Amino acid sequence: MKRLRLVAGNWKMNTTPSFARELAYAIARYAPEFPPVEVILCPPFTSIAAVWEAIKGTTIRLGAQNMHFENEGPFTGEISGSMLLGSGCSAVIIGHSERRRHFGETDQLINKKLKAALLLNTACILADEESYHPRATPIFCLGETLEERQNGKTFEIIERQLKIGLDGLGFDPDQLIIAYEPVWAIGTGVNATPQQASEAHRFLREKLSSLVGSPLAQKIRILYGGSVNAENAGALFAEEEVDGALVGGASLKMDEFVRIVKKAK
Ligand code: PGA
Repeated sequence: MKRLRLVAGNWKMNTTPSFARELAYAIARYAPEFPPVEVILCPPFTSIAAVWEAIKGTTIRLGAQNMHFENEGPFTGEISGSMLLGSGCSAVIIGHSERRRHFGETDQLINKKLKAALLLNTACILADEESYHPRATPIFCLGETLEERQNGKTFEIIERQLKIGLDGLGFDPDQLIIAYEPVWAIGTGVNATPQQASEAHRFLREKLSSLVGSPLAQKIRILYGGSVNAENAGALFAEEEVDGALVGGASLKMDEFVRIVKKAK
């Protein structure tokens, strides 16, 4: 099945609003050349408004890097999905390994966040059936550590993350995007080989089929993330199972990011 390719840039805790605006304007100049590849930029919260200003009216979508599972309330320092929607975001990264590792996010917490994002998405679609378009697309990250891979536990770990993450959704997660991001490849300059990525993606799609049924599993895009750059992107995208990339470091360099997007065509 043909799935639309997607390249998302995860800017992590980088960029001031003024730098983010500049970078987003520079990338947006190339927006007409991106289709059919879908592009999402995920700046830090404080740069969301600046990036929105630059990409509004183009095909580039805005995403956030995290959200709380509640809609509002006494959660100092947190941001909810509806706040993100109100700021121009239509996507959100959930369960990134840096959040799992440094901020103690568990599979169970990630499950709550995914439910909240997908529920918000469904609510938006119901409220606006006329102009259906994705509203709160979660980019659900999972992947094994180096130790887990060396101990032959890769598949066991990603299956657990997938199953708990998607537990009890109660509705079709047709807007879900998955990012397979082996932790050992993130920010290390060592990317998974196209074969390793493809093998993990195929496994995840098989498991997805048993969780949500095959037609839906065929629709869900699975991105690869971990040291993707303009040099290795082509070989990764040549794999049928790789539907795009979640790019960290290389997404902060306009030229490199644009080259990666073009490789996805
Ligand atoms: P990287 O990060 O491309 O810098 O390895 C990817 C990610 O963390 O999403």
